[in-house]
Amino acid sequence: MCGIVGVLGKHEVAPILVETLKRLEYRGYDSAGIATLADGRLDRRRAVGKLVNLSDLLVHDPLPGKSGIGHTRWATHGGPTVANAHPHRAGGVAVVHNGIIENYKELRAQLSGQPFESETDSETIARLCEHHIAQGLSPRDAVTRTVNALEGAFAVAFLFDGEPDLMIGARKGSPLAVGHGDGEMYLGSDAIALGPMTDRVTYLEEGDIAFLTRSGVEIRDADGKLANRDVRMIAGQATQIDKGGHKHFMAKEMFEQPTVLSECLAYYAPGDTVAIPGQSPDFTDTDRVTMVACGTAHIACQVAKYWFEQLAGLPCDVDIASEFRYREPPISGRATALFVSQSGETADTLAALRYTRDKAATILSVVNVAESSIARESDLALPIMAGVEVGVASTKAFVCQLGVLANLAILAARQKGRIDAAREAELLAQLRALPGLISQALMGEEQIRRRTAKLAQATSALFLGRGPMYPMALEGALKLKEISYIHAEGYASGELKHGPIALVDKAVPVIVLAPRDALFDKTISNMQEVMARDGRVWLVTDAVGAAQAGDGVWDTLVMPAIDPIFAPILYAIPAQLIAYHTALHKGTDVDQPRNLAKSVTVE
Ligand code: F6R
Repeated sequence: MCGIVGVLGKHEVAPILVETLKRLEYRGYDSAGIATLADGRLDRRRAVGKLVNLSDLLVHDPLPGKSGIGHTRWATHGGPTVANAHPHRAGGVAVVHNGIIENYKELRAQLSGQPFESETDSETIARLCEHHIAQGLSPRDAVTRTVNALEGAFAVAFLFDGEPDLMIGARKGSPLAVGHGDGEMYLGSDAIALGPMTDRVTYLEEGDIAFLTRSGVEIRDADGKLANRDVRMIAGQATQIDKGGHKHFMAKEMFEQPTVLSECLAYYAPGDTVAIPGQSPDFTDTDRVTMVACGTAHIACQVAKYWFEQLAGLPCDVDIASEFRYREPPISGRATALFVSQSGETADTLAALRYTRDKAATILSVVNVAESSIARESDLALPIMAGVEVGVASTKAFVCQLGVLANLAILAARQKGRIDAAREAELLAQLRALPGLISQALMGEEQIRRRTAKLAQATSALFLGRGPMYPMALEGALKLKEISYIHAEGYASGELKHGPIALVDKAVPVIVLAPRDALFDKTISNMQEVMARDGRVWLVTDAVGAAQAGDGVWDTLVMPAIDPIFAPILYAIPAQLIAYHTALHKGTDVDQPRNLAKSVTVE
């Protein structure tokens, strides 16, 4: 949610800033801007919409300078206009900001004499800092005082008139990394942004302020004390982003799923037993698993609930992070709290984690970004090993989250004495079969491409499933909404007749996810109820299921046969491909769908 970058360089920085912002565009693409310092004076360029508009502007109106900051915006306060675009400037101060300043109205009132130009909370930061400088404070002291007055979540980078060798960054609630170069220093929202410039990165801690010059960085903690933060080497692979010959990141990431899932499964269970490297979670005394996440990660938790309950006999709660802590749920002192997040920075999930601190026995997280806030604040962070996910619609991260959660449920089942070694080996063998089955399912792409031409004409669609396929119906609907903008809902198929069946008519495609599991016959009966009301059913099942379901369906997508327990992992593939190809037919922006951003660092 907003990406920020800063460079104290040896060369012209404008092109470097733009290239870096490209790597951050997944965090927001409502507007973009850069500010640089040339001959000691700040200047800036800003443009509404995708980064390409800023690049075009810079071709006609270049910006010289070897120090600069940049921003790609996901609008919170104030629409996507040039005036609201960052960097914000007040006198000799330029600022880029990711996060939300909750007390900006009070601060704005205190600065009422200043000529505010935007509707943003972020401009307040620049104006407050400028106000302190006008009172005679140095940039360092002005930033420290400014940052101390801010409430909310922020990662900020400052640049100052007349200070070509100074850039200041601060972090509270939103991520910020310092990059170490050779006679150059950088700031960035994540290591991915800094990847082409350096592999040496320091992650700021909550409350840190970093004072950068070209020769290094001084970091002060929230109490103003000198802080010694590690410089970490980031493997090149961890920051590599390209489409690998695919048209979209989403396509590349879907087709990476057999590989990344197989690596993930091998990490958690190299043999016939779950054996997690390093510290392993212990569910022996756990009386309840409380899982909290947002969006697709929340759907992964809903699927995993079936596994924890059925395999391990552990009661399981699953919550949407934005609702969780405000409900003030009681947490058992023997509970394992489990947070799932691809980015590891989702503000609501992080806040939910903090709510369970000192309440639950253990805090586990399942994350893709190992250095993320959620990972760092957990007792134990379990990697999903999906590699960088750039497409805003989560695909490979979802499948790997499910892979990790399945392993955790098997581990818990063993620790609770619910399964013996033979059953554990059998379950792991079923998991290990998945990458191959996913490859087969991906081969159905052309079939899905042709069939989605009809789906793309619909204005509304329903996804149905029972048992663990119910959350998969939610996932199918979420993916379709998110990238094709077709209104879609996921329902438990047995629930349809309690209201939603009123939506069914010839115009509403109904996609039924029906692997041959214990509930298959019931799902097919629910499908018949839809067809009896002229519903156009698209059945997703295996060859035997298709034969058993009988005639009358609008279309059938034949999937590889699979043992039912881990079928949700396989059925993620048609859900993704249906959304992807429908979006292609509609010509929407698959990797950067409107109104969305990948890392949601605001509440
Ligand atoms: C949907 C999607 C989002 C994320 C959600 C949580 O395709 O990607 O719903 O799953 O924003 O993000 P993380 O996993 O980073 O916490």
